[in-house]
Amino acid sequence: MVGMPYPVGTVTNSEGHLEIAGCDVVDLAARFGTPSYLFSVPEMRNRARAYLDAFGAHTDEFEVLYASKALPVTAAYRLFASEGLSVDVASGGELTMALAAGYEPSRIYMHGNNKTDAEIRLAEESGVGHLILDSFDEIERCERVLTGKQDVMIRVTPGIKPSTHTYIQTGQLDSKFGFGLEDGSAERAIRRTLASSKLRLVGLHFHIGSQIFETEPFRLAVKALASIKGDWCRMLDLGGGLGISYENADEPPKIESYVDFKIEAVREFFGHEVRILIEPGRSLVGNAGVTIYTVGTIKEIPGIRTYVSVDGGMSDNLRPMLYDARYEAAIANRAGRAAETVATIAGSHCESGDILVRDVALADPHVGDILITPATGAYGHAMANNYNGMPRPPVIFLEDGEAQVVVRRETWDDLLARDA
Ligand code: LLP
Repeated sequence: MVGMPYPVGTVTNSEGHLEIAGCDVVDLAARFGTPSYLFSVPEMRNRARAYLDAFGAHTDEFEVLYASKALPVTAAYRLFASEGLSVDVASGGELTMALAAGYEPSRIYMHGNNKTDAEIRLAEESGVGHLILDSFDEIERCERVLTGKQDVMIRVTPGIKPSTHTYIQTGQLDSKFGFGLEDGSAERAIRRTLASSKLRLVGLHFHIGSQIFETEPFRLAVKALASIKGDWCRMLDLGGGLGISYENADEPPKIESYVDFKIEAVREFFGHEVRILIEPGRSLVGNAGVTIYTVGTIKEIPGIRTYVSVDGGMSDNLRPMLYDARYEAAIANRAGRAAETVATIAGSHCESGDILVRDVALADPHVGDILITPATGAYGHAMANNYNGMPRPPVIFLEDGEAQVVVRRETWDDLLARDA
């Protein structure tokens, strides 16, 4: 059995190939080409169920929202809807995908720090259950655009900074998101919303950041929000943020203990009355996904380093460049062998910084090998782009030895498709 950060149940088979959800990764590369995003469906289901079970052990008054920005793919919306999750969308585009997947509109929560008239209109027309208000301008925009009365929550920046990359800290006063607590904006927003004829305030929301291993910042955020609660506060949305294991040594909290901790914090500061919402993204899909590539060029610079170049890079995984994110890597067709060649995995883009993994030990890499990077399920496909005219990889769901393409590979012709 291959451990974290790979999907649970990943094994090395008798041919020495990695096998995920019963599918030989090297066969998949031959069948579907590379680069490709592969997802273990059981891993996604198990994580959704872990959240539901952890809450269900304590209360019926909860909702787990799939933060769909992590993997905005119609099939993923469909999967999490079937598991009983609600959904967080952050744009008209994500809303469109959630609706196309058949999401019950009342289970859709709409975020965004700059929702447009068109997005607010689409939300109302499609019957979105809740808008999460983010600014005074948005309150005005809602009052102008909405025709009926809409349930809303208020996003508060509680003034808490968890330890994670600064680009993904979102709970501090100096943030483009939400209403600050420290400067009194949150309280003003509450008064303003309660006085509105178009908005029905039902709760508060915070999201302090992403890829977080500590639990204490969440307690502090709940405590901070309790200072502005009122009778109208029937729902409390604690955002997402639970970190995952990217490298072998990473030890994030388990979903169960993370949920227990959050529930305890809410009970301490809000009592038993509020319905608890949570919005995991990364921790549902991150470890379920891997990316496979083909090794194309190996360049050894004696005494300096060996570059192993693959047929993808920053167009399919921006995270190393954006956040200095670290990943593991392996040669999927030589999985049983000791990894003794230290190499740096480079992408195919015209940038020196297009490095997927620095200084990682590989098992005797050769041109034509299938290289795999685990834990690319969240914010990989989501942030993929066409830099250097690179077509985006397909998304392939794996379950019980069957592979299903749920987003096809982009083609060179697709790159011409929008020419006007
Ligand atoms: N709720 C809200 C309001 C959010 O803004 C986010 C993520 C989530 C929930 C889900 O957070 P998660 O459970 O995935 O940590 N591109 C970055 C991550 C940006 C996260 C943005 N917001 C990355 O690749 O690390």
